[in-house]
Amino acid sequence: MKFLVIYLSALVSSLGATVLVSQNITTKPVWCWPRDWHIFAKAKPHANGNEFVPYGSYGSEVDWNNPEKIIPLDYDQAQGKRIFYQQCVWCHADSTPAGPSNRSNVTPDPPLMNDGKILNDKSDESLRKIITLGGSGVGKSAMMPPYGLSLAPNEINDLIAYTRAIAAPEYHTQPHSFKQIWRSKTQ
Ligand code: HEC
Repeated sequence: MKFLVIYLSALVSSLGATVLVSQNITTKPVWCWPRDWHIFAKAKPHANGNEFVPYGSYGSEVDWNNPEKIIPLDYDQAQGKRIFYQQCVWCHADSTPAGPSNRSNVTPDPPLMNDGKILNDKSDESLRKIITLGGSGVGKSAMMPPYGLSLAPNEINDLIAYTRAIAAPEYHTQPHSFKQIWRSKTQ
């Protein structure tokens, strides 16, 4: 009888110890046990925002300031992303798929493409103008090349849509003036 009590208490406390330890183990228990089986390991934290990717979403971009956050992109925005990584990333981001960018060599500093503090206040029309005509076409630095002949108008619109999607702080369409409110009500 005494033996049974000792045996049972040893059993219960070792089970308890297993449960306690298993809550803190983060490595895989054995090499053949995938992490996502969740037996011992804690579930991986869900990327913030992943659950908001709408059904049928075309693409996504990782938030430039917060790698945990995934930004869903619709078709146009995803086309904009593709063109951005072909043409603009070299000057308008700090790192590129090919390594460090050229941004620090360019004067004036090209704004980061997600810099909502600078770009949110500019209308689509003014972004379209500088991308089409280049900096010199709008009285800004000629270091910003013109794309009016190499990109189609809808590709430039896609670039703007992508810029708006990745903006931090977030971009919200809002009428800037009475004229725009009037137009949005009459169209
Ligand atoms: C060779 C470097 C370079 C490349 C490539 C480049 N830009 Fe620029 N961009 C600049 C510079 C420099 C400025 C700042 C001009 C100024 O403020 O005088 C700028 C400014 C801008 C602005 C205006 C921001 C504002 O303050 O109004 C937008 C929008 C922009 N670029 C979009 C693009 C897009 C879209 C592409 C790709 C299709 C692109 N740029 C490619 C250098 C570049």
